[in-house]
Amino acid sequence: MVDDGAGRGERDRIAVVGAGAVGLWLAAHLAEAGHRVTLLCRREKQCQVIGERGIRWVSARGETTVFPECRPVSRGFPREVDWMAVCVKGEDRDRVDPGPAGWPPVPVLRIQNGVDLLRIPRTWGVPPSRYAAGVLTYGLMRPDDRTVEVRGEGTLTIGVPGPPGEPPPFLRRMEQVLREAGIAAAASPDLAREVWRKAAANAAINGLTALLECCNGEILHRSAVRAVAADVVREVGRLAARAGVAETEETLWSYVLEVIRATARNRSSMLQDWEFRRRPEWDAVYGDLLKAAEEAGVSVPVLATVARLVQSKFQNIK
Ligand code: PAF
Repeated sequence: MVDDGAGRGERDRIAVVGAGAVGLWLAAHLAEAGHRVTLLCRREKQCQVIGERGIRWVSARGETTVFPECRPVSRGFPREVDWMAVCVKGEDRDRVDPGPAGWPPVPVLRIQNGVDLLRIPRTWGVPPSRYAAGVLTYGLMRPDDRTVEVRGEGTLTIGVPGPPGEPPPFLRRMEQVLREAGIAAAASPDLAREVWRKAAANAAINGLTALLECCNGEILHRSAVRAVAADVVREVGRLAARAGVAETEETLWSYVLEVIRATARNRSSMLQDWEFRRRPEWDAVYGDLLKAAEEAGVSVPVLATVARLVQSKFQNIK
């Protein structure tokens, strides 16, 4: 932690890995709040654009430009940080490369879609005592390399894997920093429940919006689509129950409805992947759930059908 000398109290040094919509959004919030942020990008060109012109952050509150330090991830992770946030897509989790010096010995917050958040990627080598995960329901869009648009307000729920319990001090510090930076963040005592709820929302929203090329809100306006979404949520609920997370059908569906309504104007990340011809987060949103279903012997026909259709839609995108 550093004192910024401007009387604004303690400021953290934070590395944000990944400059997709979530990474840009997080880095913009934290840098704007006065923290010393290093944004690590995979592509040199993107790094250069952000270095020269800053992150353009567009929300209901207006438009602002923020200049975090930006550098290519190929130079390795910075050592002088208080904590890190990793905001890469599920499909890229095993490609996160800290460089020759490895991970700095600080807490790591991983923000991503999917139930895989509940385990630490084997390739990372981050100990459980320093690992946290974040479930994000904001509707975000990245129309170009330096712009992030907030298309729906949401929450960022953070927690640590394991049985429900009091969040550790490092998670409380992250919560405080995030909240003070204007993010609706909360430390949850029960990460698994949050992750499974969000998995149900992503499974219902992302595939259907990508297949139909519509905003999240459309799901509720077409009765047949709404019915498919409800079936998907019901099936994910069964998987959650098998994983020890008991949710009633009603609470799970009302959570998903809330996310759809709050992000009604948003184009889901999977739809954006389709529009920009990027690889989708298929494993994180569908593959891991189908694997869980197979392992548990739970039948999930609607989920499997949506997943297959999504696979077929994206089949030529590598
Ligand atoms: O992946 C997404 O697009 C987001 O997680 C969400 C919350 C479904 C909003 O579009």
